[in-house]
Amino acid sequence: MSNEALENLLHEDRAFPPSVEFAAQANATAALYDEAKDDRLAFWDKQAGNLTWDTPWTTTLDWSNAPFARWFDGGKLNVSVNCVDRHVSAGHGDQIAYYFEGEPGDTQTITYSDLLAQVSQAANALESLGVKEGDRVAIYLPMIPEAAVAMLACARIGAVHSVVFGGFSAEALRSRIEDAEAKLVITADGGNRKGKPMALKPAVDEAVAASPSVENVLVVRRTGQDVEWTTKDVWWHELVGSQPTTHEPKAFDAEHPLFILYTSGTTGKPKGILHTTGGYLTQAAYTHRNVFDLKPDTDVYWCTADIGWVTGHSYVVYGPLANRATSLMYEGTPDSPHNGRWWELVQKYGVTILYTAPTAIRTFMKWGDDIPNSYDLTSLRLLGSVGEPINPEAWMWYRSVIGGDRCPIVDTWWQTETGAIMISPLPGVTATKPGSAMIPIPGISMAVLDDEEREVGNGGGGYLVLTEPWPSMLRGIWGDNDRYVETYWSRFAGKYFAGDGSKLDEDGAIWLLGRVDDVMNVSGHRISTTEVESALVSHPAVAEAAVVGANDEMTGQGIVAFVILRSDAEVGDDIVMVLRNHVAQEIGPIAKPRQILVVPELPKTRSGKIMRRLLRDVAENRVMGDVTTLADPTVMNLIGQGLSSANANED
Ligand code: WT7
Repeated sequence: MSNEALENLLHEDRAFPPSVEFAAQANATAALYDEAKDDRLAFWDKQAGNLTWDTPWTTTLDWSNAPFARWFDGGKLNVSVNCVDRHVSAGHGDQIAYYFEGEPGDTQTITYSDLLAQVSQAANALESLGVKEGDRVAIYLPMIPEAAVAMLACARIGAVHSVVFGGFSAEALRSRIEDAEAKLVITADGGNRKGKPMALKPAVDEAVAASPSVENVLVVRRTGQDVEWTTKDVWWHELVGSQPTTHEPKAFDAEHPLFILYTSGTTGKPKGILHTTGGYLTQAAYTHRNVFDLKPDTDVYWCTADIGWVTGHSYVVYGPLANRATSLMYEGTPDSPHNGRWWELVQKYGVTILYTAPTAIRTFMKWGDDIPNSYDLTSLRLLGSVGEPINPEAWMWYRSVIGGDRCPIVDTWWQTETGAIMISPLPGVTATKPGSAMIPIPGISMAVLDDEEREVGNGGGGYLVLTEPWPSMLRGIWGDNDRYVETYWSRFAGKYFAGDGSKLDEDGAIWLLGRVDDVMNVSGHRISTTEVESALVSHPAVAEAAVVGANDEMTGQGIVAFVILRSDAEVGDDIVMVLRNHVAQEIGPIAKPRQILVVPELPKTRSGKIMRRLLRDVAENRVMGDVTTLADPTVMNLIGQGLSSANANED
């Protein structure tokens, strides 16, 4: 974030307290902060007590082997029972768990009883394929109910799911299957996107052909498009559909692995973030109830995230279901078949709580007020934001045009690694400032530190750290404990370093300023610069590549790549397009650089380190910073010349 933007932020003095009416009915009151402060572990015990345990835990937190935490040790529970069975047993079987709307307009209503039957059938099916406790299952599906059913079925039998976003390439899927040694892949023929079927199965075929660990592929028929069929393939509707609708669940240890979710770090290899059972579900449910103020009997809740991201795990599946929410799930994109689709859905289903990302909000803002204004959005009573900093202008627009100046906004900061929300207003308590995530939620401790590990205090900026373990924290990186310790716990001794820069304003409210490492945030999705660089240099025409994240009005950051071509490479005029497509092929369309600049040299220090700061200056059209540490200060002139002949190549 530029200094100018930072200055603007820190002069933001508007504050929006909750209305008296909202505060009076809110789940969370100010007492929650006091309770957590008085006795943090007793506070978390109480939250865990909202779940149904087969065996109670004996130790709230075991931190003796830090940074490897054990929460609620000795306790046993089944996540799918907590999300489904217990609501049916309590007489809520007829309540709708999910309204599903496909992009083409097909719909389903799935009650908690329906969900129990489907999860039981899927659990039986997985067992019939030999999937056992602790086995890994890769899930590569569109946003359809089977995605939630597949996750819950894994949880039910103690298998560990690894959901891979459907927009990732065959190669990205393959490397994740390989790293986790997945035994089963659950996929679909395709999904519906922007008015047409988007194939998934060919990518799976390619990935599975190179993955000896995979024994079977379970295929949901969603679009009906033609698919190649291999001896490992089994149709979901044939196998799952023919199973008994009951399944006897078993309880698992609180620390039994629940899922792995890959996310980009500062190297080219994505990290398999590992989450476990009891602590994860405790915090997912606690935050969902208190931050979103969920009223299970009356709310219609919609989190627009894809199941492939952690938001989809914690706030489409686990948190809402643990709290017996009625949710909306939508398969497609906001512009299909028209730009008012989301608002049409809010009106149709009477959505009361909407949780989405700043990129989406900025896109709607660009499309104009007339679109949302032509729908009835008065059912909405709370709005949430996640994934990237939300600029005050977008926040104000969200508040007035979508929320009718009546809905509190919760800007929620968290990460794949944190598993659940960490910093956010409480909607009935906090007076919110447009653009700030405000303060840690009750039970969470953080600090902003400078380079010397000192707390910066109000008015200061520095690195965001978490100072105490929390229930839904990652338990490690799959297969790489050293990397876990190194990445998160070595920058500041004994503290979790989040990788984000932040400022505390004069009142102690937190303003997130984006990543301080080599991780970019594009539309709320994490992509590492190294990952894109490796993809670029894997193309035979590329000798060297350097990638930076540049400010982007719509997507937060945009990917800008500087490449040096091999002198012997035979390239055409379309080389930029070829390389952008190559990156999409290697990682997925979300990693396609916004801009690729072909340059003769890269700026390097005498020790050979690429000076990204200077490249960022170029990418953001700024006056170049200090070049005196460059081995050859004239290279920036060469790059400048390259720039003048380049053009933005967005599609
Ligand atoms: C990174 C984590 C949390 C689920 C979605 C992204 C950025 C996330 C906010 C926010 C400013 C935010 C941070 C963080 N981020 N939420 N409310 N304000 N920045 O999960 O892919 O693990 O990315 O997203 O930079 O470190 P993720």
